[in-house]
Amino acid sequence: MDDNRMISATLQQEEANLEGSLRPQTLTEYIGQEKVKKNLQIFIDAARMRGESLDHVLLYGPPGLGKTTLAGIIANEMDSSLKVTSGPAIEKPGEIAAVLNQLSDGDILFIDEIHRLNRQVEEVLYPAMEDFSIDIMIGKGASARSIRLDLPHFTLVGATTRAGMLTAPLRDRFGVVNRLEFYTDRELQVIVLRSAELLNVEIDEEGALEIGKRSRGTPRLANRLLKRVRDFAQVRYGGRIDKDVADLALDLLEVDSLGLDRTDRTLLLTMIDQFHGRPVGLDTLAAAIGEDAGTIEDVYEPFLIQRGLIHRTPRGRVLSEKAYLHLGRKIPHS
Ligand SMILES: Nc1ncnc2c1ncn2[C@@H]1O[C@H](COP(=O)(O)OP(=O)(O)O)[C@@H](O)[C@H]1O
Ligand SMILES: [Mg+2]
Repeated sequence: MDDNRMISATLQQEEANLEGSLRPQTLTEYIGQEKVKKNLQIFIDAARMRGESLDHVLLYGPPGLGKTTLAGIIANEMDSSLKVTSGPAIEKPGEIAAVLNQLSDGDILFIDEIHRLNRQVEEVLYPAMEDFSIDIMIGKGASARSIRLDLPHFTLVGATTRAGMLTAPLRDRFGVVNRLEFYTDRELQVIVLRSAELLNVEIDEEGALEIGKRSRGTPRLANRLLKRVRDFAQVRYGGRIDKDVADLALDLLEVDSLGLDRTDRTLLLTMIDQFHGRPVGLDTLAAAIGEDAGTIEDVYEPFLIQRGLIHRTPRGRVLSEKAYLHLGRKIPHS
């Protein structure tokens, strides 16, 4: 491993530790997403009353909004144990069969990035989800036959950033489908205050709101920014975060008043300067700013669309007037 990769591996480990320590454990601790919580609470209560396993749950939405956290909470609330895997980790039908075989009644199987499962693996999941059984082939050649194996009654919790990339047969097998929304500034303020308490960081309400406002509607970013602002406050302001300290630190981190970072601004400015406000296709835009098209679609664009800075049209992405105003550029006459 070269130095850069080692540094980034260390940072990733640090981030994973931070996330683990800040992760809410119960639905009550989980802030915001009121519709999703209400919905899940009903299904969880009903399943518990009947003494049955919970219906399969699909969670979708941009990264960092709390999908993995919810999977853990569902397991906690159901008093079940959680098995975790992911789409890219399972390559062969035999591998998913082995995972399913090791489950017990009531277990929660969490499959992250479920849209990345390949077709053959998916096909093992269909009867597993529907009838709690799998078909396996025994023998070879002319004597080969398939036998049906019963599975325990488990619950599959799938998470994806792209519900649109899920095949219809897989999507249809989830009884509960929940879309996670971006958080409001106030909800993020509460999340920052909670994290600050857990991390022993001194912060006031306005400081927390400022961090919340600049976190792109995303708890993961709110926690990350809190940590960076804390470092800044420690070095220069005796560790205490108020609105002014948060402002200064976030400006230094190049996070602007809407929470846009440098890549967001590059994306918007490229649309103005290189494409002069004309509709731009995703791949063209990706090539122009040197980002991966999938990353733009999953990570950057959803927030820019939600905040009304860009619109999707059949001819491509276009900027809104709000984007021109925010960037201090003249709106072109069309
Ligand atoms: N509703 C919430 N309330 C409080 N903290 C949250 C909430 N959702 C997410 N977080 C925090 O954000 C971090 C990222 O959430 P995660 O579940 O990993 O997102 P995803 O799986 O959707 O990418 C978690 O470590 C958790 O601390
Ligand atoms: Mg996750």
